[in-house]
Amino acid sequence: MSEFAGKTLVLSGGTRGIGRAIIDKFAQNGANIAFTFNNDEEGAKAIRADFESRYKIKCRCYRLDILEPESYKEVFEAIDADFNEVNYFISNAIISGRSVVGGFAPFMRLKAKGLNNIYTATVLAFVIGAQEAAKRMEKSGGGAIVAISSTGNLVHTENYAGHGTSKAALEIMVKYAANELASKNIRANVVSGGPIDTDALRKFPNYEEMKAGTIARTPLGRMGQATDLAGATLFLCSKDSYWITGQTLIADGGSSFT
Ligand SMILES: NC(=O)c1ccc[n+]([C@@H]2O[C@H](COP(=O)([O-])OP(=O)(O)OC[C@H]3O[C@@H](n4cnc5c(N)ncnc54)[C@H](OP(=O)(O)O)[C@@H]3O)[C@@H](O)[C@H]2O)c1
Repeated sequence: MSEFAGKTLVLSGGTRGIGRAIIDKFAQNGANIAFTFNNDEEGAKAIRADFESRYKIKCRCYRLDILEPESYKEVFEAIDADFNEVNYFISNAIISGRSVVGGFAPFMRLKAKGLNNIYTATVLAFVIGAQEAAKRMEKSGGGAIVAISSTGNLVHTENYAGHGTSKAALEIMVKYAANELASKNIRANVVSGGPIDTDALRKFPNYEEMKAGTIARTPLGRMGQATDLAGATLFLCSKDSYWITGQTLIADGGSSFT
């Protein structure tokens, strides 16, 4: 039997893209799923019904706004009512659209509000979500936390200064979490992806150009797909990675070293 059978994963932003692919991977492996949505309640409910019938696991969805990180507390209280324990937490959700104006921009057009929003949604939301998850994991003897990052903090990516700097901060925050949660048998790691063909990327104004450029500089010869980060994330939650904590695992088809 899979080590994930009957365990519970909490993931932010499970309606589409990378988050959707990750919860699918965990559900295939028998994990129960508690995931969040922001706008797409209908889509979230459809995923819940689909997973429960296809994978015979328990799946529930909750509204969360990562621009209000404290609201994680209510989400976890609702999860407590539905699930006995929390074994894995994956911080995945990302903001886009109006809230990143002034944050997703060339350097000379960066503005405090957009930059602060990205920091709040990326770093502060991770902190509050991981704190709430860790309190529950401690009660069941340990667990694993994974934050989803991107190689935009290693490779110059147009308009990406706000996200790239927040992802860099996120990766350091994960190291602090890993260090301080280790005594509770909780590991914390990062999966960092190169450009992946999701809604978030399709909103980039230079999407087509970026896609062509990414394929050209990716040794494995194609654009990343949402499913490409799921295996790395499952591995970092599995017992096979028991000696790995505070690390960033890059899954980018080799594109950050070309
Ligand atoms: N795409 C890439 O190239 C790439 C590469 C490497 C890493 N990543 C990282 O992977 C993660 C997922 O990215 P993605 O490309 O899969 O994103 P995506 O397709 O845009 O999906 C975003 C998810 O976040 C949720 N969300 C949006 N605004 C929110 C808010 N204010 N509060 C709470 N949840 C909110 C959405 O929920 P609704 O559908 O309900 O709005 C959705 O589930 C991010 O951390 C991103 O930085 C992305």
